[in-house]
Amino acid sequence: MKKIKGEIFLPGDKSISHRAVILSSIAEGITEIENFLFCEDCLATVNAFRQMGVKITAKRPPSRAGEAGRAQSAERNLIVYGRGLRGLKKPARPLYLGNSGTSMRLLAGVLSGQNFSVRLKGDSSLTKRPMQRIIRPLKLMGADIKGKDKYPPLTIKGKKGLKAIRYKIPVASAQVKSAILLAGLYSEGETEITEIAKTRDHSERMLKLFGVDIKTKGLKCKIKPSSLSSPAKIKIPGDISSAAFFIVGATILPGSYLVLKNVGLNLTRTGIIDVLRKMGADITVHSPQSTVYSQKTVNCQLSTVNCLEPVGDIIVKASRLKGIEIKGRIIPRLIDEIPILMVAACFAKGETRIKDIAELRVKEVDRIHSLCYNLKKMGAEIEEKKREVIIKGLKKIKGERLDSFSDHRTAMALTIAGLKAEGKTIIENSDCIKTSFPDFRKKLKEIVFV
Ligand code: S3P
Repeated sequence: MKKIKGEIFLPGDKSISHRAVILSSIAEGITEIENFLFCEDCLATVNAFRQMGVKITAKRPPSRAGEAGRAQSAERNLIVYGRGLRGLKKPARPLYLGNSGTSMRLLAGVLSGQNFSVRLKGDSSLTKRPMQRIIRPLKLMGADIKGKDKYPPLTIKGKKGLKAIRYKIPVASAQVKSAILLAGLYSEGETEITEIAKTRDHSERMLKLFGVDIKTKGLKCKIKPSSLSSPAKIKIPGDISSAAFFIVGATILPGSYLVLKNVGLNLTRTGIIDVLRKMGADITVHSPQSTVYSQKTVNCQLSTVNCLEPVGDIIVKASRLKGIEIKGRIIPRLIDEIPILMVAACFAKGETRIKDIAELRVKEVDRIHSLCYNLKKMGAEIEEKKREVIIKGLKKIKGERLDSFSDHRTAMALTIAGLKAEGKTIIENSDCIKTSFPDFRKKLKEIVFV
């Protein structure tokens, strides 16, 4: 039986890496970004800003012993030479954003306030993703933005004189919230957003870090037009969404013991830890902001270097899981971890129900279907409903030839299922993993033992 043992450093958080490039590009000053995630999605954002005249280079940091040395031996820091709020140039060609919904939705916010027009394109998956959710509020702000039948490609004719709005976002989406906040930088008056459920707040934190007048309280957020000033040096926390694959792997493979270093512990992202613990997982969190992670104490004394984000180490020991019901407000706090949670549920005693997950159907691929299809093929007992899944755990899971549907999180979740399955698992089209975690296989190999 395989087990997971050792200590790993996670690559930078994908959401925070995108925001770091975007804000650094429209800020005054030069920003050096440490632990930037060099994945396809984030590089799509980098390339888009390069095409708009922003100088962005990568340099190898001086080698250091310990944490930085191990985390970044092959990594580089990203240097962004900001051009200020109004310094972007019209790109010569349409901006191609590959698979990245975050790039497209966040860029739409920035581009609405420019003085040029631009076309945003994506791959076949991105072209099927709903854009009305950003088109509507941005139009209310005065933006000239069009998509063919509300899908990409988008044509944005940037213009001066956007106006602030008060807007209740009808879906729980940090991408929509961030698009409006970014357009708010270019709008006259104070923009006020209300969410229906709290989503990741990395944009709000990083805007604060760049000196923007932004206020948050509960589900509300207010922003005033403002220029941005670079904090010079920032470090991206490790990605908890990437960590989640290893956390579940170490939980379900008996005899495992894993330490994950320097992971982002923002409460809007830690739903996976809360849920796995409720299922019986043995997970301890150590953070300089609080010795033992608890919902109340983790968000204090945040360092500007870490993008005002809490970070810490996670220790996981193998344990027996039991099925539970997962629904409601916790869903946005673990939206990208549901694929790996479905894998965990296959190895939990009893029934796990994951409700309120309709949003999963409009991710890079329909992730309810991609997981149900493959896990069923492996022998799992799963019922696929419109907005929920019901999984009866502890059935015999066997290795199979599987299909990632070209989705990175589906491919990584199935890889972990394959470690626990009897026999060989082959995942077709797994190249897509480089969308968010190019080193996934390499890191996994370092910690898996037979
Ligand atoms: C993200 C927000 C989430 C998440 C995505 C990244 C972000 O999407 O699923 O992977 O960086 O803001 P939604 O805003 O569509 O929920």
